[in-house]
Amino acid sequence: MSAANAIPHHIAIVMDGNGRWATRRYLPRVAGHRQGVESLRRCVRACSDRGVRVLTVFAFSSENWNRPPEEVSGLMELLAMALGREVPQLKHDGVRIHIVGDRSTLSEKMRLGLAQAEATTAQNTRLILNVCFNYGGRWDIAQAAAKLAAQGEAITEASLDRAMALSHVPDPDLLIRTGGERRISNFLLWQAAYSELYFSDRLWPDFDEIALDEAIADYGRRERRFGLTSGQIASSGSDRIAA
Ligand code: IPE
Ligand code: IPE
Ligand code: MG
Repeated sequence: MSAANAIPHHIAIVMDGNGRWATRRYLPRVAGHRQGVESLRRCVRACSDRGVRVLTVFAFSSENWNRPPEEVSGLMELLAMALGREVPQLKHDGVRIHIVGDRSTLSEKMRLGLAQAEATTAQNTRLILNVCFNYGGRWDIAQAAAKLAAQGEAITEASLDRAMALSHVPDPDLLIRTGGERRISNFLLWQAAYSELYFSDRLWPDFDEIALDEAIADYGRRERRFGLTSGQIASSGSDRIAA
């Protein structure tokens, strides 16, 4: 393990398992999502304390619209409420929020709330928090390609990269999924090309600082090769050679 690899610059998380957390307690699923917000608040603080510079979380996928209507509306209300309640503290703590995803199908009121949260925290530099909401990796690739086509720009890896919704941050170093499933579920399809993957069986509301530290420690033991050989990495003196 090298010191450079100890703390990931950018952590991305599929916050999965809220529904099961609630069901096990005979509570409605939305109670699990509420607890998920608490877990996110704790995670933001823990990442910030550890020197992580970017945290990207999956809050609502393009496919989550197909859930029962009461759960979808519960999640919409929760996002609006959580932003209203948390933004002053996030502003104080140096966290800059970006909401990442397709806003075109969200209500006018919701769009305004998201823009306000972003504007209020725009001067902050300690931690960037990307909340992926109505987001899908396929949506992102398609919208980036459509944007370039509309501008008559050639489609290359570099131009697509610039047109993506997460172009303001480097690719995630560590991608965590909680809740026991071993899949990406249409999260950062483009950006996770060389992310280290970490799967935790803990449900998201139970994913605490200790669990985060375990994930970071596991990441620290990985050798990131980016297509090179171990020998090349050793002689370059850094496993972040292509990061
Ligand atoms: C993740 O938890 C949060 C969202 C998808 C919004 P789930 O709601 O998927 O929880 P499980 O997987 O059903 O337990
Ligand atoms: C992924 O979780 C989306 C979010 C965490 C927001 P899902 O629970 O929707 O994923 P699947 O359906 O199990 O693949
Ligand atoms: Mg799930």
